[in-house]
Amino acid sequence: MSLRATRIEMPASTREQVVTLLNQRVAEVTDVWMQIKLAHWNVRGPHFQAYHTLFDTLADHLLEAQDALAERAATLGGEAGMPLGQMAQMANGPTWPMGVRQDRQVIILVADRLSHIANRIRQDIDETAAWGDAGTADLLTEISRQLDHDLWLVEAHGEA
Ligand SMILES: [Fe+2]
Repeated sequence: MSLRATRIEMPASTREQVVTLLNQRVAEVTDVWMQIKLAHWNVRGPHFQAYHTLFDTLADHLLEAQDALAERAATLGGEAGMPLGQMAQMANGPTWPMGVRQDRQVIILVADRLSHIANRIRQDIDETAAWGDAGTADLLTEISRQLDHDLWLVEAHGEA
């Protein structure tokens, strides 16, 4: 990886580790964002309006997280993000099962996808802190707290 020079006093080896982690999460967050938009567009059933609106709020928060993660990678001198096809390969989580539209099934899938990324990012907080990058750990903490909050909303709507 070729890192840009910066006045940030952090070893290049640490910056490389962090940039790699951040870009991996950018790919995963983008994948989950797309899956939640699929839920937003395709959900059907008695809870349509509540779920349709909720899913858009979640998707907006994931895009904010994507932007913050990518910009932290750029801040540390890395190349931020990657083309969409490469993100899809890197994300390697479960894909969205097209054809599932019933609101009660959709909200359980959304809870699963959101909790998967939320729990990954929670682990990253300790990992980046141990590497000596408190700034990234703090950013991940903020994202983690937002995702936990959003998961509460999903679980409360769906009793999932
Ligand atoms: Fe929409």
